[in-house]
Amino acid sequence: MTKKKRLLTGDRPTGALHLGHFVGSLQNRVRLQYEYDTFIMIADAQAITDNYDNVGRIAAHVYELVCDYVSVGIDPAVSHIFIQSMIPELFEMTAYFMNLVTIQRIGHNPTVKLETKQKGFREGVPAGFYLYPMFQVSDILAFKADVVPVGYDQAPMVELTRDVAKKFNATYKTELLVIPEAIFPVSLQTNLLGLDRNKMSKSLNNAIYLKDTRDEIVQKVRKMPSDPDRVDYHAPGSPEKVLVFDYLRIFDPDQEGLDALVDQYRKGGVMDKTVKERLIEVLDALLVPIREKRASVAEDRKRVESILREGTKAAREVAGDTLAEIKEVMGLVFPL
Ligand code: TRP
Repeated sequence: MTKKKRLLTGDRPTGALHLGHFVGSLQNRVRLQYEYDTFIMIADAQAITDNYDNVGRIAAHVYELVCDYVSVGIDPAVSHIFIQSMIPELFEMTAYFMNLVTIQRIGHNPTVKLETKQKGFREGVPAGFYLYPMFQVSDILAFKADVVPVGYDQAPMVELTRDVAKKFNATYKTELLVIPEAIFPVSLQTNLLGLDRNKMSKSLNNAIYLKDTRDEIVQKVRKMPSDPDRVDYHAPGSPEKVLVFDYLRIFDPDQEGLDALVDQYRKGGVMDKTVKERLIEVLDALLVPIREKRASVAEDRKRVESILREGTKAAREVAGDTLAEIKEVMGLVFPL
């Protein structure tokens, strides 16, 4: 049997996961976890780079994230779910890797530039935040990950990681570090917009969460905007302008039935209420089993802890081995 390739990915524990995560990354992970030796990092140390004054909130979300993962089918028996801050080896590695990158290079990272603008740090940019891509380099290299499934915004991080790995290997004349490949979401589904057509985000409260109740779904879908140019439902409509249809395209298992509804809507005579009710049923049907599974994990704190304990133990072993190898090829070995 050939050894499985390794996959490493992660999330910041800053809030509940929503449908955008579901189609953008979670489904993909569920599918890939049996094919790859999978490590999923809960990046709490990274999350506090812009939440250092609210660590409690981040820590609380670590458990929530585990519940979200398990609820959608990430299987802790095959995927190692672990906590970044519990792997001190990562931070030591970062110290060595930082020698291989210029400050200028870090400053040019487009994602960090954008985030810096959005966050509007009033007292200047914290060094920890500015340098978080360097910590992410270690997250990936410590596990010798072959593939890193991420959103497009993370492309610069993986690019930086590749460069560090190559420079490390060249400098210390080794092939120790694996040059990782990013895997990006393939389908347009991943562009799932928020309920108000803005990017899905917690602060805008425009997302449907995996843990939302049926009532919450009903409230949210009812508020979704419909075609503003249609005077009443007898008039022909433009399904392209109606976000509810975009959602149905992604989530409705009966795509032929949906085609028929789209045609009807175009001709006229279909109430927006009818379309919304269809979406409510589709989303509720999707989320019923997820919600149930989530509830059963969430009430079993011991189970969540044991998932994290096992995952973190496995992760720490791998990172420890890599760190020892790194120090050895660098010549930092003192047999005291
Ligand atoms: N930066 C990622 C995000 O904001 C989270 C993350 C941390 C990550 N370390 C990682 C993703 C390593 C992939 C690989 O979503």
